[in-house]
Amino acid sequence: MNIHYLTLFPEMYDGVLNSSILKRAKDKGIVDYNLINFRDYSNSKHNKVDDYPYGGGAGMVLKPEPVFEAMDDLEVDNARVILLCPQGAPFNQKMAEDLSTEEDIVFICGHYEGYDERIRTLVTDEVSIGDYVLTGGELASMTMTDAIVRLIPDVISKQESHEQDSFSTGLLEHPHYTRPREYRGMKVPEVLLSGDHKKIEEWRRDESLKRTRERRPDLLE
Ligand code: ADE
Repeated sequence: MNIHYLTLFPEMYDGVLNSSILKRAKDKGIVDYNLINFRDYSNSKHNKVDDYPYGGGAGMVLKPEPVFEAMDDLEVDNARVILLCPQGAPFNQKMAEDLSTEEDIVFICGHYEGYDERIRTLVTDEVSIGDYVLTGGELASMTMTDAIVRLIPDVISKQESHEQDSFSTGLLEHPHYTRPREYRGMKVPEVLLSGDHKKIEEWRRDESLKRTRERRPDLLE
């Protein structure tokens, strides 16, 4: 998979794409990250990428030319082109699963004051990562990258498998315990030490349901 980011702040990605599983996926040759500073496509003297809104009003609007020209240069066919904005469809696990099978994904990261509306003709999807306003789409694109890349086959091992992840099953995950058996008076539930796999499965399923009912009853509806 190739993931392209049209951004004015490519340096924001350094730590995230070069750590942990996202780095491992790149090192294994499974994904490639391509950072494009679309300020390089500005045709103005001072590399301006935004301008005052027609009709007046507060805030600046992202100009169409740098984004269109950066896209022309990309030359990707059949890519999913995702505009990050708070008005987009809410991001979720199902969307991550769907995107994890794509060959090319382009994220267009702009700023909330607004995109020139014509930029929307370039995109296949508009996505929001939650009902709050970020200063730009960069953190949203990194969040989405993380959720998508870990689902690509061979990025994480069988032991780390995501098949039991919260949301993949439609429920929140059951509690987990590791050694020691007792810590500061808190004991690991007996059933997990019993070796009875059927009982353990039942316990996990019950805890999963209980947790979902308590924390996210909306998922059960
Ligand atoms: N840009 C600004 N806020 C955003 C959000 N919540 N999701 C995606 N992109 C954004």
